[in-house]
Amino acid sequence: MFMHKRLLMAALGLAGMSGAALAEDIPQLGRVATPEEMSSWDIDVSPDGTGLPLGSGTPKQGAAVYAAQCESCHGVKGVGGPTIRLAGGLGTIVGSANVRPIKTIGSYWPYATSVFAYIRRSMPFYDSKSLSNDELYAVTAYLLQINGLIGDNDVMNAQTLSKVQMPNRDGFFRWKPGD
Ligand code: HEC
Repeated sequence: MFMHKRLLMAALGLAGMSGAALAEDIPQLGRVATPEEMSSWDIDVSPDGTGLPLGSGTPKQGAAVYAAQCESCHGVKGVGGPTIRLAGGLGTIVGSANVRPIKTIGSYWPYATSVFAYIRRSMPFYDSKSLSNDELYAVTAYLLQINGLIGDNDVMNAQTLSKVQMPNRDGFFRWKPGD
């Protein structure tokens, strides 16, 4: 890259053109995004909690969000809805032919922070990115509570959520072809 640029500048120099003329030749399209515009896209959250926003919520507050915005698809307390089950199945991810794995947040997901990140990015299905940060913490807290992973009155926020230990935290391994 560097070499190319130097060669280009040298060629332009020979042709008698200035740097200013070069800048004018670049199409002046678009504009710089504002910090607000950037922040609405900057929503990734790492397993260790980096990227979690301000805000907080409890299972009780989350129960109301869940009933209004999630239950129709995911069922009462995360079970029996028309789509993916979100609760139960603990102890079924054991790698045995005799036990049918039931993959839920409680039985399968390795990080509570990823549950938050997933919901933040993609749920409710037809209205993603519509929940406030408090609603996101609350509904995540509710899902963790119905899976028996936090207490009824635990408050979830950027500090507490990243400390929740998921049962299948160590159930993953790196796979490479041939293993
Ligand atoms: C209109 C139906 C619908 C609604 C409403 C809905 N979801 Fe979903 N949800 C889905 C579908 C479909 C998937 C599977 C998407 C996929 O795998 O690509 C899903 C997946 C999920 C998953 C991932 C589960 C897993 O183990 O892979 C979570 C967590 C989740 N939804 C939470 C929520 C929450 C919280 C709400 C309410 C704020 C909600 N959903 C509202 C349809 C819905």
